[in-house]
Amino acid sequence: FPADKIRNFCIIAHIDHGKSTLADRLLEMTGAIAKTEKNKQVLDKLQVERERGITVKAQTASLFYSHQGEQYLLNLIDTPGHVDFSYEVSRSISACQGVLLIVDANQGIQAQTVANFYLAFEAQLTIIPILNKIDLKNADPKRVESQIEKVFDIPRDDCIRISAKHGTNVEMVLQAVVNRIPPPAVSSDDPFRALVFDSNFDHYRGVVANIAVFGGRVRKGDKIVSAHLGKTYEVNEIGLLRPDEHPTQRLYAGQVGYIIAGMKDVKEAQIGDTLYLQEQPVKALPGFKPAKAMVFAGMYPMDQSEYPGLRSAIERLTLNDSSVTVQKDSSLALGAGWRLGFLGLLHMEVFNQRLEQEYNASVIVTAPTVPYKAVLSSAKLIKNRRAIQKNMVYIDDQRVMMKYLFPLNEIVVDFYDLLKSLSSGYASFDYENAGYQAADLIKMDILLNGRSVEELITIVHRDRAYNTGKAMCERLKDSIPRQMFEIAVQAAIGSKIIARETIKAYRKNVLAKCYGGDITRKMKLLKRQAEGKKKMRRIGNVEVPKDAFINVLKRK
Ligand code: GTP
Repeated sequence: FPADKIRNFCIIAHIDHGKSTLADRLLEMTGAIAKTEKNKQVLDKLQVERERGITVKAQTASLFYSHQGEQYLLNLIDTPGHVDFSYEVSRSISACQGVLLIVDANQGIQAQTVANFYLAFEAQLTIIPILNKIDLKNADPKRVESQIEKVFDIPRDDCIRISAKHGTNVEMVLQAVVNRIPPPAVSSDDPFRALVFDSNFDHYRGVVANIAVFGGRVRKGDKIVSAHLGKTYEVNEIGLLRPDEHPTQRLYAGQVGYIIAGMKDVKEAQIGDTLYLQEQPVKALPGFKPAKAMVFAGMYPMDQSEYPGLRSAIERLTLNDSSVTVQKDSSLALGAGWRLGFLGLLHMEVFNQRLEQEYNASVIVTAPTVPYKAVLSSAKLIKNRRAIQKNMVYIDDQRVMMKYLFPLNEIVVDFYDLLKSLSSGYASFDYENAGYQAADLIKMDILLNGRSVEELITIVHRDRAYNTGKAMCERLKDSIPRQMFEIAVQAAIGSKIIARETIKAYRKNVLAKCYGGDITRKMKLLKRQAEGKKKMRRIGNVEVPKDAFINVLKRK
């Protein structure tokens, strides 16, 4: 394929506006997949994607399309819509010259429509606005076209009205891809240069890297170098993704495909890396901004004997999702484990679900936290700050876009659900990191009979301290068994007690039921009680079962 017959594009949209459905139609119309009921959301390959009905990993498909007697190669990259995965979107965009910006003709412009538009706009890609779901009774394409004109400054006449579900006008989308999106400005006569924009780990074949070829050509057997590590590899296999792997003899400038070159570790095929031929060194292409972890949580094996298994599961899964950061950690209560960083809460849930489904691992996940920077000075005295409104734009008479500065901790747990329910599902939400801000945060201790429990020390906002402390005390009270003396469970800030629960004195007499009788049965019961105690941790004079820590630390 000469480069001028190639078009590289991705589909971007707010969640549920119909990207994957449109991708299915495009695959069917170009014969990449058969048109059957079974072929739904074929690019959503992971089990978690199918169960949740969302796209998590970007996927690539090369399509053959003939238009006015010419054959075209269209490389389509399906991207996730949720905020947590916008990292995948920005990577996909770097391999493309154009995007299909899908907007639901009923819902109109939503938060991620705006966020994704700016990713494409800043990368100077051709943007084709598409109004989807025009078959819906409440669809109002006219209103949504005005929104697009007003918010994005794109003429309303550029919009294509479609129903991805029924296939209405989808042919016009293919024509627009060919007519409006420029071919990649590359030449096969240049030295070979390819950008690694995604990579996967395959147990048998090692790293399978997705590449966009920016110049020259590559063949099986060629010796290539990774610019990042300077290591040389021999190309074992190359090919197109249609969307399954189709090996080919060569890949040329402008094409998007996969490469297998005996890399044994995804760290060797860093996303954003440049590959070139050993005999023709070139300058590396600009890479990507590394993903920035925003939400952290501890992960621990249910039982320490499962540690090695969980370690290898986490390693393999992070090879597949390099935006997750992993640090070894250990907790007095939960043993050896890790502290993992995620791009957001959904990202963390999806990772956890993949660990369980794809690697059969059982894990204790602690409540998520966000990063803080501590400064030891009187600056903590700074006035309490909550959300600060930055600006407000009316998209039309029914929709308004508002920007706020929020403490991340306030939006990380249930903000999205709350927003959705308060607005009956109408509001949508997106965020980006605005950096660290001074805040009135304090360290809270949990005390058992006056002794601080190291593993339960928490950083909270002063206004939230009472509620958080009270909830932690209640949970502890419910999970520590009564003992021979009374136990005070307290939350404290410095020397000030802010919440208290009391566990009444009591001793479980395990022998009460075996009056007289069998000595071996008595011994058994005593032994069982002793074993139970081994799993306890002693804090001062209080015995705390491991479960109590799990109940307090675990995500609800
Ligand atoms: P994410 O991958 O999670 O970001 O979602 P998506 O944008 O890929 O949306 P998806 O294709 O999964 O579609 C979301 C829902 O909208 C599904 O239930 C589709 O069946 C439905 N849908 C998509 N296109 C149309 C359409 O043209 N008309 C109607 N009525 N429903 C549609």
